[in-house]
Amino acid sequence: FSVLAVIAGASYLIGSIPNGLLLGRWLWRIDLRQFGSKNIGATNAFRVLGPWPALGVFFTDAAKGVAGVFLGQWLAGTPLGMLVGGIAAIAGHNWSVFLKFKGGRGVATGLGVIAVLVPKVTLIVFAVWCVIVYFSRYVSLASIIAAALVPMLMRLFNERMEFYYFGLLAAAFVIIRHKPNIERLLKGKELKIKAGQAGKE
Ligand code: G3P
Repeated sequence: FSVLAVIAGASYLIGSIPNGLLLGRWLWRIDLRQFGSKNIGATNAFRVLGPWPALGVFFTDAAKGVAGVFLGQWLAGTPLGMLVGGIAAIAGHNWSVFLKFKGGRGVATGLGVIAVLVPKVTLIVFAVWCVIVYFSRYVSLASIIAAALVPMLMRLFNERMEFYYFGLLAAAFVIIRHKPNIERLLKGKELKIKAGQAGKE
């Protein structure tokens, strides 16, 4: 148990690092929390700063998920250890200790986690996400549906039950943090995606 607690704590701290906020401030002198959706994730980096900054935020946020899983593998060497590392990294991203327990939506970090654990599920959800973004231009809608698909696909592919429970929890973490987006979607006021716009408002 103590090993799992160490994994959870360390991965939570790694997940808490607000890459979008730090990169935006350091490289572009822009606080993402003041523009666009005011979110610190890759989507808002795309909206406010453009495609290259968005890719930078995406990969560094995904790397936190990858790091959590590898930490679990290294310290515990069990699937449960990897899942604990992964979910703790997502929790850190969404409720960062460095941002008074505010944070991002957990999409890129979650994708990093499942990329290591179940690559085929990752490919499917990423493909579905791309199709929904392409047709609707609502990244949040795509992220919510993609997150909900993860536990379903874990069941479909007969992955271990722990993976299914992880998928349920991770989807809940992602969807809960999309509350403002869901409210905007229902009111027809959600921002459609377009590069490098919001910073110029
Ligand atoms: O991955 C986050 C995305 O689903 C929504 O981002 O900036 O539109 O709130 P944003």
